[in-house]
Amino acid sequence: MNCLTILIVNIMSQLMPTLPYATDALEPVISRETIECHYGKHLQTYVNNLERLIKDTDMEGLSIGEIVELAPEGPVFNNAGQVLNHQLYFLQFSPKPRRNEPEGELKRRILRDFGSMELFKKRMTDAGTTLFGSGWVWLCSDREGRLEILSCHNGDNPLRHGKKPLLGFDVWEHAYYLDYQNRRADHLTRLWDIIDWEEVERRAADKSISVADSANY
Ligand SMILES: [Fe+2]
Repeated sequence: MNCLTILIVNIMSQLMPTLPYATDALEPVISRETIECHYGKHLQTYVNNLERLIKDTDMEGLSIGEIVELAPEGPVFNNAGQVLNHQLYFLQFSPKPRRNEPEGELKRRILRDFGSMELFKKRMTDAGTTLFGSGWVWLCSDREGRLEILSCHNGDNPLRHGKKPLLGFDVWEHAYYLDYQNRRADHLTRLWDIIDWEEVERRAADKSISVADSANY
Protein backbone atom coordinates (compact mmCIF):
# COMPACT_ATOMS: atom_id res chain seq x y z
CA MET A 1 0.00 0.00 0.00
CA ASN A 2 1.19 3.51 -0.69
CA CYS A 3 1.08 6.25 1.95
CA LEU A 4 -2.25 7.63 0.72
CA THR A 5 -3.86 4.19 0.83
CA ILE A 6 -2.52 3.56 4.32
CA LEU A 7 -3.87 6.92 5.45
CA ILE A 8 -7.32 6.24 3.99
CA VAL A 9 -7.45 2.72 5.44
CA ASN A 10 -6.59 4.18 8.84
CA ILE A 11 -9.30 6.79 8.45
CA MET A 12 -11.84 4.17 7.41
CA SER A 13 -10.92 1.98 10.39
CA GLN A 14 -12.37 4.68 12.62
CA LEU A 15 -16.13 4.69 12.64
CA MET A 16 -16.29 8.49 12.66
CA PRO A 17 -14.19 9.74 9.73
CA THR A 18 -12.25 12.99 9.94
CA LEU A 19 -13.49 15.44 7.33
CA PRO A 20 -10.68 16.35 4.91
CA TYR A 21 -12.16 19.86 4.48
CA ALA A 22 -13.66 22.62 6.62
CA THR A 23 -17.38 22.46 7.32
CA ASP A 24 -18.02 25.51 5.10
CA ALA A 25 -15.61 24.47 2.34
CA LEU A 26 -18.23 22.81 0.12
CA GLU A 27 -20.40 25.93 -0.10
CA PRO A 28 -22.43 26.83 -2.05
CA VAL A 29 -23.08 23.23 -3.13
CA ILE A 30 -23.48 22.00 0.49
CA SER A 31 -23.78 24.61 3.25
CA ARG A 32 -21.94 24.67 6.56
CA GLU A 33 -25.27 24.19 8.32
CA THR A 34 -25.98 21.02 6.36
CA ILE A 35 -22.50 19.58 6.97
CA GLU A 36 -22.71 20.36 10.68
CA CYS A 37 -26.10 18.66 10.95
CA HIS A 38 -25.50 15.80 8.51
CA TYR A 39 -21.97 14.91 9.63
CA GLY A 40 -22.01 16.18 13.20
CA LYS A 41 -25.46 14.95 14.23
CA HIS A 42 -26.85 12.33 11.84
CA LEU A 43 -23.60 10.42 11.23
CA GLN A 44 -22.52 10.80 14.85
CA THR A 45 -25.84 9.29 15.94
CA TYR A 46 -25.40 6.29 13.62
CA VAL A 47 -21.86 5.80 15.03
CA ASN A 48 -23.06 6.06 18.63
CA ASN A 49 -25.92 3.63 17.97
CA LEU A 50 -23.63 1.11 16.28
CA GLU A 51 -21.02 1.24 19.04
CA ARG A 52 -23.74 0.64 21.64
CA LEU A 53 -25.35 -2.20 19.65
CA ILE A 54 -22.15 -4.17 18.99
CA LYS A 55 -20.49 -3.66 22.37
CA ASP A 56 -19.52 -7.04 23.88
CA THR A 57 -20.86 -8.94 20.83
CA ASP A 58 -19.10 -10.98 18.13
CA MET A 59 -19.44 -7.95 15.84
CA GLU A 60 -17.27 -5.72 18.01
CA GLY A 61 -13.98 -6.79 16.43
CA LEU A 62 -15.14 -6.68 12.82
CA SER A 63 -14.50 -3.92 10.30
CA ILE A 64 -17.41 -1.75 9.29
CA GLY A 65 -17.50 -3.46 5.89
CA GLU A 66 -17.62 -6.90 7.46
CA ILE A 67 -20.52 -5.83 9.69
CA VAL A 68 -22.41 -4.47 6.67
CA GLU A 69 -21.84 -7.72 4.80
CA LEU A 70 -22.66 -10.07 7.65
CA ALA A 71 -25.19 -8.44 9.99
CA PRO A 72 -28.77 -9.74 9.88
CA GLU A 73 -31.46 -7.30 8.85
CA GLY A 74 -32.26 -5.03 11.77
CA PRO A 75 -30.74 -2.29 13.92
CA VAL A 76 -27.08 -3.38 13.64
CA PHE A 77 -27.24 -3.55 9.86
CA ASN A 78 -29.24 -0.32 9.59
CA ASN A 79 -26.75 1.67 11.62
CA ALA A 80 -23.64 -0.05 10.20
CA GLY A 81 -24.92 0.55 6.67
CA GLN A 82 -25.41 4.21 7.40
CA VAL A 83 -21.96 4.51 8.99
CA LEU A 84 -20.26 3.00 5.94
CA ASN A 85 -22.48 4.92 3.51
CA HIS A 86 -21.60 8.23 5.15
CA GLN A 87 -17.89 7.41 5.44
CA LEU A 88 -17.84 6.90 1.68
CA TYR A 89 -20.05 9.95 1.09
CA PHE A 90 -18.13 12.55 3.08
CA LEU A 91 -14.72 11.36 1.84
CA GLN A 92 -15.70 11.56 -1.85
CA PHE A 93 -15.93 15.37 -1.94
CA SER A 94 -13.35 18.08 -2.47
CA PRO A 95 -13.90 21.87 -2.32
CA LYS A 96 -11.69 22.27 -5.39
CA PRO A 97 -11.40 19.02 -7.34
CA ARG A 98 -8.38 18.92 -9.61
CA ARG A 99 -10.53 17.40 -12.37
CA ASN A 100 -14.24 17.44 -13.14
CA GLU A 101 -14.25 13.90 -14.48
CA PRO A 102 -12.29 10.67 -14.00
CA GLU A 103 -9.42 9.66 -16.20
CA GLY A 104 -7.58 6.44 -17.06
CA GLU A 105 -9.12 3.05 -16.28
CA LEU A 106 -12.22 4.37 -14.51
CA LYS A 107 -13.07 6.70 -17.38
CA ARG A 108 -12.60 3.85 -19.85
CA ARG A 109 -14.99 1.67 -17.85
CA ILE A 110 -17.59 4.44 -17.60
CA LEU A 111 -17.48 5.03 -21.36
CA ARG A 112 -17.71 1.28 -21.99
CA ASP A 113 -20.67 0.70 -19.65
CA PHE A 114 -22.64 3.96 -19.99
CA GLY A 115 -21.65 5.33 -23.40
CA SER A 116 -20.48 8.77 -22.27
CA MET A 117 -19.82 10.79 -19.12
CA GLU A 118 -22.93 12.82 -19.85
CA LEU A 119 -25.14 9.71 -20.04
CA PHE A 120 -23.59 8.31 -16.87
CA LYS A 121 -24.20 11.54 -14.95
CA LYS A 122 -27.76 11.78 -16.27
CA ARG A 123 -28.58 8.19 -15.31
CA MET A 124 -27.15 8.63 -11.80
CA THR A 125 -28.88 11.96 -11.24
CA ASP A 126 -32.17 10.59 -12.59
CA ALA A 127 -31.91 7.49 -10.37
CA GLY A 128 -31.43 9.70 -7.32
CA THR A 129 -34.27 11.99 -8.29
CA THR A 130 -36.75 9.15 -8.79
CA LEU A 131 -35.82 6.95 -5.82
CA PHE A 132 -38.99 6.87 -3.71
CA GLY A 133 -38.44 7.67 -0.06
CA SER A 134 -35.04 7.62 1.65
CA GLY A 135 -31.97 5.88 0.35
CA TRP A 136 -28.85 6.01 -1.75
CA VAL A 137 -27.82 5.79 -5.38
CA TRP A 138 -24.45 4.21 -6.06
CA LEU A 139 -22.01 3.84 -8.88
CA CYS A 140 -20.70 0.36 -8.13
CA SER A 141 -18.62 -2.40 -9.66
CA ASP A 142 -19.21 -6.15 -9.89
CA ARG A 143 -16.49 -8.80 -9.58
CA GLU A 144 -15.70 -8.57 -13.29
CA GLY A 145 -15.26 -4.79 -13.10
CA ARG A 146 -18.52 -3.96 -14.84
CA LEU A 147 -20.04 -0.72 -13.61
CA GLU A 148 -23.68 -0.13 -12.81
CA ILE A 149 -25.94 2.28 -10.98
CA LEU A 150 -27.70 0.71 -8.01
CA SER A 151 -30.56 2.30 -6.06
CA CYS A 152 -30.64 1.27 -2.38
CA HIS A 153 -33.33 1.99 0.19
CA ASN A 154 -32.63 3.27 3.71
CA GLY A 155 -29.17 2.13 4.90
CA ASP A 156 -28.56 -0.51 2.25
CA ASN A 157 -25.17 -0.66 0.50
CA PRO A 158 -23.87 -2.42 -2.66
CA LEU A 159 -21.71 -4.70 -0.48
CA ARG A 160 -24.93 -6.51 0.48
CA HIS A 161 -25.44 -7.24 -3.21
CA GLY A 162 -21.89 -8.47 -3.91
CA LYS A 163 -20.86 -5.19 -5.49
CA LYS A 164 -18.27 -2.58 -4.61
CA PRO A 165 -19.47 0.97 -3.90
CA LEU A 166 -17.46 3.65 -5.69
CA LEU A 167 -19.54 6.84 -5.54
CA GLY A 168 -22.72 7.45 -3.55
CA PHE A 169 -25.46 10.06 -3.59
CA ASP A 170 -27.40 10.37 -0.32
CA VAL A 171 -31.05 11.09 -1.09
CA TRP A 172 -32.30 11.15 2.49
CA GLU A 173 -33.88 14.55 3.01
CA HIS A 174 -31.35 15.37 5.76
CA ALA A 175 -28.68 15.55 3.02
CA TYR A 176 -30.23 18.47 1.16
CA TYR A 177 -33.42 19.87 2.71
CA LEU A 178 -31.82 22.81 4.56
CA ASP A 179 -30.25 24.04 1.31
CA TYR A 180 -32.61 22.90 -1.44
CA GLN A 181 -35.91 22.13 0.33
CA ASN A 182 -37.82 19.78 -2.01
CA ARG A 183 -35.52 20.38 -5.01
CA ARG A 184 -33.64 17.09 -4.78
CA ALA A 185 -32.69 17.11 -8.47
CA ASP A 186 -31.03 20.53 -8.11
CA HIS A 187 -28.96 19.25 -5.19
CA LEU A 188 -27.85 16.13 -7.07
CA THR A 189 -26.92 18.13 -10.15
CA ARG A 190 -24.71 20.44 -8.09
CA LEU A 191 -22.90 17.52 -6.44
CA TRP A 192 -21.02 16.85 -9.66
CA ASP A 193 -19.05 20.08 -9.03
CA ILE A 194 -17.39 18.74 -5.85
CA ILE A 195 -16.68 15.08 -6.66
CA ASP A 196 -13.09 14.11 -5.84
CA TRP A 197 -12.51 11.83 -8.82
CA GLU A 198 -9.08 10.80 -7.57
CA GLU A 199 -10.76 9.26 -4.51
CA VAL A 200 -13.33 7.48 -6.70
CA GLU A 201 -10.52 6.19 -8.94
CA ARG A 202 -8.71 4.85 -5.88
CA ARG A 203 -11.80 2.89 -4.86
CA ALA A 204 -12.27 1.58 -8.38
CA ALA A 205 -8.64 0.45 -8.70
CA ASP A 206 -9.14 -2.23 -6.04
CA LYS A 207 -10.98 -4.99 -7.89
CA SER A 208 -11.83 -7.00 -4.77
CA ILE A 209 -15.44 -6.97 -3.67
CA SER A 210 -15.75 -8.92 -0.45
CA VAL A 211 -14.42 -7.00 2.51
CA ALA A 212 -12.89 -10.24 3.68
CA ASP A 213 -10.26 -9.86 0.95
CA SER A 214 -10.20 -6.08 0.70
CA ALA A 215 -8.26 -3.70 2.89
CA ASN A 216 -10.35 -0.74 1.86
CA TYR A 217 -13.52 -1.16 3.90
FE1 LIG B 1 -27.19 11.03 5.19
